[in-house]
Amino acid sequence: MQTCGAIHHWQRAAHGLEVVFEQGVMRLEAVAADIFRLRFQPQGEFAARRDWDVVQPQAGAEVQVFQTDAVLGLRSDALRVEIDPDSGALSFDGADGQPFAQDMGGPHWRCVSINEMPGLATVPDRELPPGPARIGLFLDKHMHPREGYFGVGQRSGRLDRRHQRLSNWTVDCACPGHAQAHDNMYQAHPCVMALRPGRAWGLFLHSTWYSDFDVGASQADSLRLFTLGGELDYYLLAGPTPAAVVEQLTRLTGRPALPPLWSLGYHQSRWSYADADNVQQIAAGFRRRNIPLDVIHLDIDYMHGYRVFTWDRDRFPHPEQTVARLRQQGIRTVVIVDPGVKNDTRTDYAVAEQGRAQGHFVTRPDGGLFTGYVWPGESLFPDFCRAATRRWWGDWHADLLAQGVAGIWCDMNEPAIVDRPFDTPGAREQPMALATRQGEAQAPALHAEVHNLYGHLMARATAAGLQRWRPQRRPWVLTRSAYTGIQSHAVTWMGDNRSCWEDLAMSLPQVSSMGLCGAPHTGVDIGGFFDDSWGELYARWMEIGSFYPFMRGHTATGTRPQEPWRFGAEVEAVARGAIELRYRLLPYLYTLAHLASRHGAPILRPLCYDFPDHPRFYTLEDQVMFGPQLMVAPVTAAGQDHRWVELPAGVWYDFWNGARVDPGPLMHPAPMGRIPLFVRGGSVLTLGNLRQSTTEPLSQLTLQVYPGIDAHWTLIEDAGEGWAYSQGHIAETPLAVSQTQGGTVVTLGQRRGAFQPAPRDMVLKLHLPVAPKGLMCDGRQVNDWRWEPAQRCLRWQWCDDGQARRLETV
Ligand code: GLC
Repeated sequence: MQTCGAIHHWQRAAHGLEVVFEQGVMRLEAVAADIFRLRFQPQGEFAARRDWDVVQPQAGAEVQVFQTDAVLGLRSDALRVEIDPDSGALSFDGADGQPFAQDMGGPHWRCVSINEMPGLATVPDRELPPGPARIGLFLDKHMHPREGYFGVGQRSGRLDRRHQRLSNWTVDCACPGHAQAHDNMYQAHPCVMALRPGRAWGLFLHSTWYSDFDVGASQADSLRLFTLGGELDYYLLAGPTPAAVVEQLTRLTGRPALPPLWSLGYHQSRWSYADADNVQQIAAGFRRRNIPLDVIHLDIDYMHGYRVFTWDRDRFPHPEQTVARLRQQGIRTVVIVDPGVKNDTRTDYAVAEQGRAQGHFVTRPDGGLFTGYVWPGESLFPDFCRAATRRWWGDWHADLLAQGVAGIWCDMNEPAIVDRPFDTPGAREQPMALATRQGEAQAPALHAEVHNLYGHLMARATAAGLQRWRPQRRPWVLTRSAYTGIQSHAVTWMGDNRSCWEDLAMSLPQVSSMGLCGAPHTGVDIGGFFDDSWGELYARWMEIGSFYPFMRGHTATGTRPQEPWRFGAEVEAVARGAIELRYRLLPYLYTLAHLASRHGAPILRPLCYDFPDHPRFYTLEDQVMFGPQLMVAPVTAAGQDHRWVELPAGVWYDFWNGARVDPGPLMHPAPMGRIPLFVRGGSVLTLGNLRQSTTEPLSQLTLQVYPGIDAHWTLIEDAGEGWAYSQGHIAETPLAVSQTQGGTVVTLGQRRGAFQPAPRDMVLKLHLPVAPKGLMCDGRQVNDWRWEPAQRCLRWQWCDDGQARRLETV
């Protein structure tokens, strides 16, 4: 192991310092007052910025350099870092002077071998390619005994990452289900959030190479960062709250795109709906049973022999008509597109022909075209590291859009490749060689450097294509593989889970962790992908599924059908109820999506996000928050009609009956169809009328008010599609609830912005322990309110005219 030794000399650099050690150079830069970047290069020459860098260029912050006998350092308004001159070890602290993210020593490095990285076990190279790929950088940070470690993207396993070694390398793990702890999965998010009472901080390891985080697994008090690629490069996010960490991460890597409203509705999928008639039957099945639905997904069998950008004309003779007919019923169509392009030389398949002629496909290290097997048989793979290839790929979506397709589902883009036709026994994974050259001729990269970006760049190319070909609408792309920053381009899901209780339970830490990594729009296959689902599991999964930011039912080929009515009347009623709740919550969810697009704020999030000063909640992963107002405690095991719930100190209400619930642990009823759901005191929960699709109008808005602490909320609305919102066509309605001596006051502030919601009724539902004597509106007595004893709420309805209102109980 080599170390940098002591400081030789240093100089000021833009927004920071450049420090030359006995061996290697360190650059410290305040990219913002609350985000410092650290780079260390043993050879002295920093890698050039890459075209695909997920970090947006930052303006940089004012800093002061300070030096004493013992330390050299840098200080901004929010963050301070000290460098130990003898070792290069850093220690950070914030305004409170409490150190965090302290190095146990300086950066160190050595030549590494491929066998040290279990995540690379299947790559065909027996050695790492020569050059920087062979230099592994290590850094140990001291783990504070009270700190929890969260994030690190898509995993199976526990929410708190302590005691685990987590590698960042995208793979299709291809083994059914998520219940066993897999290390790496389809996505790579080398970012971690550390949290102890009073301080959250984050770290984004800015490396697309294979990297891993050893979170106290090998050495109990050390968070060890490791990356290939010959350079250590990370961003330190100062926090000090979890919300601040996610805001900082998404300021760097991109805010979550605002999805179109329809995409927040329910999606139904299966591998595959056989043909146009079958798709129509599914749509009719929803409509006949009054189960809301916004989207149907078409899996691989809609294509002609799995050739991307084609239709199987026997199954779908008139795609435009099929799509249009669904659209008339308020249902959008999403189609799957895989990156593997059939290496078709016999038929006239323009995608393969053009791609070959224009040099868009990845070539082997020896120069020949790289091929591997996926659904269509032998396939070629676009090199998404090339700008021209991304554009070419994006343009291929034009026909699908012209046919009326609403969104694109990118799959198998880790990329998943095997060594022989899928149906031959013994097919094995056959990834691209690490030594494969990718990217532009003038700035080539090794596959070893860009592997983790394959799916990410495919999704980015797709979203850019949708933007070019249908500029008036928001692109909607779903992707299985991704890298940090995906949130600006696409929604993700957790891949191939299994119909089992463990995978249902696992979905909570999975979706929560994604939110902490800045990618809130995610979900899992409801009901489970592999194996047959069954009524109880499906019903419970639907209950929690209503709270996944992306809500889709999906299952594998050959499994029992998984539409809501397939498990009998009782389960159908539960599934309908769950989807209906989702639709009623849409005004709240859409506001959450806006907040995510502004500050990165996760939608479904672990308790530690909203209650960071209560270590008790750091490891509680079977309860989650859905935005700041709702706590969900789903049933994740068989045969339960009660479950333990733990509510943090404060005022809480049972969503279903409006009753106040005491904080602390309690055994709570959880009958089928009544997912334990709690509202935080001080909330103004906004619910819409029940709709079968988001194409139906929002004709009623209910303000469900839960007094407790004084609180504010702003309902955010817009057209639900398109870009006018970014030019001010938005409606923001400030809502506040407060207690006075006389009673509860609910204030609807003046609506802001140029968007005019369609006329609608407003309903106030004010939850109170007992009926009040009266209700005043802007100082005048209201007479037509009523008390609803079952819900413990006062109900008053009026016509929304966008005016400010003060409502007060007496
Ligand atoms: C992959 C996807 C799955 C899809 C299947 C067929 O396994 O993860 O969702 O149904 O491929 O396209």
